[in-house]
Amino acid sequence: MSVSPLDSSTVVPIALGDRSYEIRIGAGLLDHAATWQDLPRAATALIVTNDRVGPLYLDRLRTQLASRYGRVDAVVLPDGEQHKNSDSLDRVIDHLLAHAADRKTVLFALGGGVIGDLAGFAAAIYMRGVPFVQVPTTLLAQVDSSVGGKTAINHPRGKNMIGAFYQPVRVVADLDTLDTLPARELSAGLAEIIKYGPIADADFLDWIEAHLDALLARDKAALAYAVKRSCEIKAWVVGQDERESGLRAILNFGHTFGHAIETGLGYGAWLHGEAVGCGMVLASELSARLGLMPASFVDRMSRLIERAGLPTRAPALGLPRYLELMQVDKKNEDGDIRFVLIEGLGKAVMRAVPHDLIADTLAAHLDPSPVPPPPTAS
Ligand code: NAD
Ligand code: GLY
Repeated sequence: MSVSPLDSSTVVPIALGDRSYEIRIGAGLLDHAATWQDLPRAATALIVTNDRVGPLYLDRLRTQLASRYGRVDAVVLPDGEQHKNSDSLDRVIDHLLAHAADRKTVLFALGGGVIGDLAGFAAAIYMRGVPFVQVPTTLLAQVDSSVGGKTAINHPRGKNMIGAFYQPVRVVADLDTLDTLPARELSAGLAEIIKYGPIADADFLDWIEAHLDALLARDKAALAYAVKRSCEIKAWVVGQDERESGLRAILNFGHTFGHAIETGLGYGAWLHGEAVGCGMVLASELSARLGLMPASFVDRMSRLIERAGLPTRAPALGLPRYLELMQVDKKNEDGDIRFVLIEGLGKAVMRAVPHDLIADTLAAHLDPSPVPPPPTAS
């Protein structure tokens, strides 16, 4: 599989009947008037962003939307996973009510997955649903969180526990916005790209291994292909199982351990993609210990995840805390902790795993360093 540059704008369709939409991928899309044409008409547009992305891109988006909407407002939230909570949600809803926004109002989520999930949830519940557009500006959001309609905020007891399935009317992934992304965030996005290989496309895993250096160097052609292929795989999964009654759960490879690490360390200490990267090593180890994959698969995944700049050793939260955190997971049934595992490259399965196997797996990949105290919310 080779890298071939995409056209200035490539479209990946999401086929969901009357909730179908396009993912537009390309460089410079933000400043092209055509990007924003034929969106729903409304008197008001509200851009939800944060105090890090806003200074970079808010004015440019506002300029484009001004010709389409009579009034373009913005809510600028504090940056960070620790602010993906009910306080931030209240601020968005309060703004809409204070300005008597009607049910045609279009919300624009300008930012990474935190803003996309939160603004999408606000759109889902304001007046029982208003249209929203995802404008993802992180690699992670472009390849995963902006696509497929999962929206949520966190609860102190569990990540993404308050949310809704609610599809955007369009996704606009401008690859140029990745130029300003810190290297640590780029690596976090690579975790979700790597995920698509083992769960759905063995050739894509080979391609990622071969092009990882180009991705880390932000080569536009490599990024364009990685975003497009990731969105195609996600569109294929979501098109078959929008509300996660089965297949869609495979997109959570590495996430059971990952969510436990994020919640256990305190939201924001590790990035979501870092926790997922480490979680994929652990889930690969579980797959090997259950005889579904050879031991060499664990080494392959560890090497790739490490090359991507992601952690491969689990923080020492203690087994009881890991088990407690992993009990609070939407995939669980009847008290069992269920994991997405790999059974042959390109194929994922869901299995309940006994606690002693979880303990052995964690022990094999534990970082014995003391766990830092959770960051305090500012
Ligand atoms: P994020 O939204 O916190 O963004 C990462 C950091 O990069 C933030 O500080 C942000 O302000 C900054 N940033 C964003 N765009 C930038 C740019 N272009 N230039 C410079 N800085 C920029 O984190 P994320 O990794 O994008 O998303 C993680 C979130 O996504 C988690 O809350 C996770 O639960 C969620 N998620 C949701 C889904 C889903 O299907 N809905 C899937 C995966 C992850
Ligand atoms: N990121 C997992 C999903 O969208 O289902």
